[in-house]
Amino acid sequence: MPDKIAETAAATDRLFAGAPVIPVLVIEDAEQAVPLAKALVAGGLPVLEITLRSAAALEAIRRIAQGVPEAVVGAGTVLNPAQFAAAQLAGARFVIAPGSTDSLYAAAKDTGLTFVPAVATASEIMRALDHGFSRLKFFPAESSGGMAALKSFGGPFPAVKFCPTGGISEANLAAYSALPNVFAAGGSWLAPKDRVAAGDWAGITAIAKKAVATAKGS
Ligand code: 3PG
Repeated sequence: MPDKIAETAAATDRLFAGAPVIPVLVIEDAEQAVPLAKALVAGGLPVLEITLRSAAALEAIRRIAQGVPEAVVGAGTVLNPAQFAAAQLAGARFVIAPGSTDSLYAAAKDTGLTFVPAVATASEIMRALDHGFSRLKFFPAESSGGMAALKSFGGPFPAVKFCPTGGISEANLAAYSALPNVFAAGGSWLAPKDRVAAGDWAGITAIAKKAVATAKGS
């Protein structure tokens, strides 16, 4: 199992390399998908989580997968194996869930698609390790203990790395990103609803650039 954990971790690290921040996107209109993805990629954020919270989400994944090859598009808010399969069919290169269930672990194993389960407790981390996963979303980060919890997890789980999501913003991004067991931070602040609705792609690129600089501590 340790070899399997290392192998899965290396594959996930490769996919997310160069993306210190993962935008969590709710796309209501599939027409917005490609320009939004291009705006974020232009700002230095190639890894995009399209949440399956809107009717347009799967079509948005399809369009980005086909139209923005420089993006690494994945599905978020995946709650069950049917959504897992639909995301893969649409072209998602990874799946992120807000939690971690046996049925999603089974779907990940069946498909071989990169899967980032979410955890908020030590027992959930141990279960993820049992299933071979050590790259985990920490959700909801701020309300589950935030940075103090991540520092505490570093003791018993030195090889586990997290993507804190939920309550991350420009204000706390630098501090989260500086933690040794954080591989990226996720959040919805990179694509504010009003800017997406207005088609303010330049404004979104600027937010992304700022986040990259903040995450890198520059
Ligand atoms: C998620 O699904 O990961 C969260 O809704 C994102 O949380 P945020 O809106 O606080 O960034």
